[in-house]
Amino acid sequence: MRVLVTGSSGQIGTNLALRLQRVGHSVFGVDKRQNTWTDEFPYLLQDLAGHYPSFAGGIGGVEYPEVDVVVHLAAHAKVHQLVRQPHRALENAIMTFNVLEYCRQIGVPLVFSSSREVYGDVHRFEEYGEGIADFAYTESPYSASKITSEAFIYSYARCYGLDYLVFRFSNVYGRFDNDLHRMPRVLPLWIHQISRGEPITVYGGDEKVLDFTYVDDCIDGIARGVDALARGRVANETINLAYGQGNTLVRAAELIGAALDIEPQIAFASSLLGEVTHYVADIRKARELLGWEPTTPLEEGIPRAVGWFRDWRAAHPEEDRPIVDGWAAGEVEHGCKQPAAAGA
Ligand SMILES: NC(=O)c1ccc[n+]([C@@H]2O[C@H](COP(=O)([O-])OP(=O)(O)OC[C@H]3O[C@@H](n4cnc5c(N)ncnc54)[C@H](O)[C@@H]3O)[C@@H](O)[C@H]2O)c1
Repeated sequence: MRVLVTGSSGQIGTNLALRLQRVGHSVFGVDKRQNTWTDEFPYLLQDLAGHYPSFAGGIGGVEYPEVDVVVHLAAHAKVHQLVRQPHRALENAIMTFNVLEYCRQIGVPLVFSSSREVYGDVHRFEEYGEGIADFAYTESPYSASKITSEAFIYSYARCYGLDYLVFRFSNVYGRFDNDLHRMPRVLPLWIHQISRGEPITVYGGDEKVLDFTYVDDCIDGIARGVDALARGRVANETINLAYGQGNTLVRAAELIGAALDIEPQIAFASSLLGEVTHYVADIRKARELLGWEPTTPLEEGIPRAVGWFRDWRAAHPEEDRPIVDGWAAGEVEHGCKQPAAAGA
């Protein structure tokens, strides 16, 4: 298959592109940034959030190679950054619109990367079947951008016969996620801080429970989806992809400490604006439709993630420097004064 991956310089895009290529597919990436981890697959540097008049051949009239399926991952993906800079959430929606128009005009199906954030935080401690997402509970501009994108996709399916799969991810970790100066994600940030003997902050305390997904489980699910969609076996479904188990952030910090053999120094702070504080995915649909089964619980995934992080850091010692926390340093916009945090 020929697969176009947007957001190919990001965490999931890099892992997915390498995986698809490894099993024999032809991959073409699009991202507005260079890939800082690998040059093993071809990609185009392009800003996908422009207002483009033309989609012939590619978004904005740029010539893409022929493709059989598009995986749209490009987004501003940091929840708190979008609380501060909500125009970026609008850019997410514009990117999805551009990708949809491209898919519609060349007649190819779309796989989209949504998020557990569409469930909001209202249904705490209930089950999270795909049907309970409700836009009245939109927690943040990032959630709004995913709900908007999903809504556009469903409308394109109805009006233009677009075939799609929407995946809702949750805290993916493990590899190609250590570009902390661009995108501080909670687990690699803590690996970085604990290994440097620095304290970490748990926002939301011991009550915060999330569903962490080891990257290879996530990529396996997407790859199955791409295959099933392109072959017409599964289409027009919205599917949770996560491990299906809740873990507290404190448990995650302890596992990182154990893998590094360093006692973490943990400070607690209250939960942040726009934040989901409890999520455990219902993954039955992914199992049923894709024959997919996640295999890596947090206890196994964190030692692997720590191992990957250490190997990368050994080869790039210049990255061993403090993470500058712009939020804490007073980079506050639009009056929503909140401390910084690492989201996913
Ligand atoms: N990683 C997770 O835990 C997680 C969880 C839920 C949802 N998601 C979603 O999955 C997708 C991939 O996530 P990720 O973790 O790889 O994010 P990421 O930030 O690592 O990758 C996103 C990529 O999109 C690119 N991008 C942003 N704006 C762009 C633009 N205007 N034009 C072109 N490229 C642009 C960025 O440069 C980046 O490389 C995102 O849509 C994200 O919202 C991720």
